[in-house]
Amino acid sequence: MRFSPSFLDEIRARVPVSEVVRHKVKLKKQGREWRGLSPFNAEKTPSFYVNDQKMRWFDFSAGKSGDIFDFLTESEGASFPEAVERLAAMAGLPMPLETNEQRVEEQKRATLQEVSEWAAEFFQKQLAAPAGREARAYLDRRQVSAASREKFRLGFAPAERHALRDYLAGKGATVETMIEAGLLIHGDDIPVPYDRFRNRVMFPICDRGGRVIAFGGRAMEADAQAKYLNSPETPLFHKGATLYNLHNARKAAHDAGTVIAVEGYMDVIALTAAGFAHAVAPLGTALTPEQCNLLWRMAEEPILCFDGDKAGLKAAFRAVDTALPLIGPGKTLRFVLLPDGQDPDELLRAGGPGAVQQAVSQTLPLVDLLWMRETEGVALDTPERRAGLERRLREIAGQIGDETLRRYYGEELRDRLGRLFGRAPAAPARGRDFTPRRSGAYRPGATEAGPVRISQSLANSPLFRGVKPPIAPRDALILLILMNHPDVLAAQVEEVAGLEFASNEAAALRDAFVRWTETGGGERADLMQHLEESGLGGVASRLEGMVAHAALWSVRPEASPADAAESLRQALVLHRRFWALNKELRAVEARLAANSSEQDLARLRDIQTQLSALDGAEAALEGFGASSGRSTRSL
Ligand code: UTP
Ligand code: MN
Repeated sequence: MRFSPSFLDEIRARVPVSEVVRHKVKLKKQGREWRGLSPFNAEKTPSFYVNDQKMRWFDFSAGKSGDIFDFLTESEGASFPEAVERLAAMAGLPMPLETNEQRVEEQKRATLQEVSEWAAEFFQKQLAAPAGREARAYLDRRQVSAASREKFRLGFAPAERHALRDYLAGKGATVETMIEAGLLIHGDDIPVPYDRFRNRVMFPICDRGGRVIAFGGRAMEADAQAKYLNSPETPLFHKGATLYNLHNARKAAHDAGTVIAVEGYMDVIALTAAGFAHAVAPLGTALTPEQCNLLWRMAEEPILCFDGDKAGLKAAFRAVDTALPLIGPGKTLRFVLLPDGQDPDELLRAGGPGAVQQAVSQTLPLVDLLWMRETEGVALDTPERRAGLERRLREIAGQIGDETLRRYYGEELRDRLGRLFGRAPAAPARGRDFTPRRSGAYRPGATEAGPVRISQSLANSPLFRGVKPPIAPRDALILLILMNHPDVLAAQVEEVAGLEFASNEAAALRDAFVRWTETGGGERADLMQHLEESGLGGVASRLEGMVAHAALWSVRPEASPADAAESLRQALVLHRRFWALNKELRAVEARLAANSSEQDLARLRDIQTQLSALDGAEAALEGFGASSGRSTRSL
């Protein structure tokens, strides 16, 4: 039932926040406020505050705040009506009586829900029955385990036109109800309504409480007219306000500290089976503001992991636009663009959980995506074009609703523009900066020669993960320094030969560097020619394209060898640390898979934290993104 705002206000006014919180958190008075240990994070220094005057609580460790209702829903997972009921009792207020209209509405929802539940049971039974043989074979081929079928309540809608209708009628449901639940096709020109879902593998869609409210149905033939068919909008089901698997992901997201949004049902199922239970999917439409808000109720920085193809990139760009007016401090999106046109399901099959772990630990902040979209393919060879870009960026930043964040975006985008146009940044760089910029190290106007073409550089930069198997940014930085500074390369060739890289392209470059050095070396131009001849010209020019986006002067050919060597040393420290941690991570994962122990679990978390801290250090070093320092609790 819906509660009137005045009723909720009355409860808020009567029940001090500290009274509610006290049941869960030990509070100490501090001035006008109360203070205690966060109920969301294990911590030693209290960062949880309660202000009874403001009728709110604030958790600085988790970056959350809210009122008494939020406290019960977020710290105890209570449903909203539950929270209202408990708090109304504390306030000594009787629950409001439902109006007749509300009661009828409520009754209708209950009926629709019941019929949807029966339908889910029917589809499940059909999957197990002889009629479901082909569907079972289909799921076998797609390697969906029995446990996954059970967990996601997968089913099968038989090919007949009235199978579900007859089953539901047998249970006492009326045809009107079935129509209203979206289960039958009907219309003026259709004399006898018939089953909407026929000969499809069925995916029940649940509300946040896990009650079935709709279905997605997948055709099994590759050439079917509609690959997926979803329930229409019904009184229970509002596509834009629903996320697939929300009910399961909520708790998992709380534990994981983040949530991953993917495109497809199958992606969610595969990810869950692989240990990423904090996965949800929108229902075949662009991410809506309501869905963003659902994601933010689970995590501060939900990860959007879209398919690594054009459509996926487009969907990510659209999500940026949707999110811009809504983001704020502790409330944003991060992005993963998968390599090679893969979707998460395929990535899992190709690379296992490690590949997904790797992908989601290399997320791009929203600002990077924005930058990529606005600068990719844009010629900036005239003052007019440069001014145009500047104005577009200003307009975009202007869409951000949160005033503080809007200011920071403005600064960040101005800095990036400055770097792109070869000027010193407008404001001193923020965040952790590994290489102190010595005076004179950053030369204004360095890229004056020739037009700046971002198209090439960005399209080829490692930010553009969708196109080629990525060279990780740190690896790219190392390779770039070596490529631009053959002297440094020559001095370190043995070390270089032993470097480990995840990407084949990076490894190929390394080998080419070593071969060239060992067969005599020479000037940078010779090296470039050698790379060209070795078929690595494309990769090399992609690396070169990154120069415009790197904050480090020392990656440029014009930098002094001493500066380059120092940057290389720092990058190598990070590189070695990363590989050591990754090795240990794999070992711990293997141990956990065989036999889970608290100790290994703790170690796993510790490694993940360190890896993600490393990520932040790296971002500061290379200056491609996230100069404000990334969250270290995203894993
Ligand atoms: P995908 O085609 O990527 O789906 O569409 P998928 O889940 O990876 O499917 P498989 O692996 O090929 O079986 C992503 C989502 O878009 C919606 C569905 O919600 C799907 O999960 N969709 C897709 C539709 O609604 N209708 C369609 O025809 C296709
Ligand atoms: Mn897909």
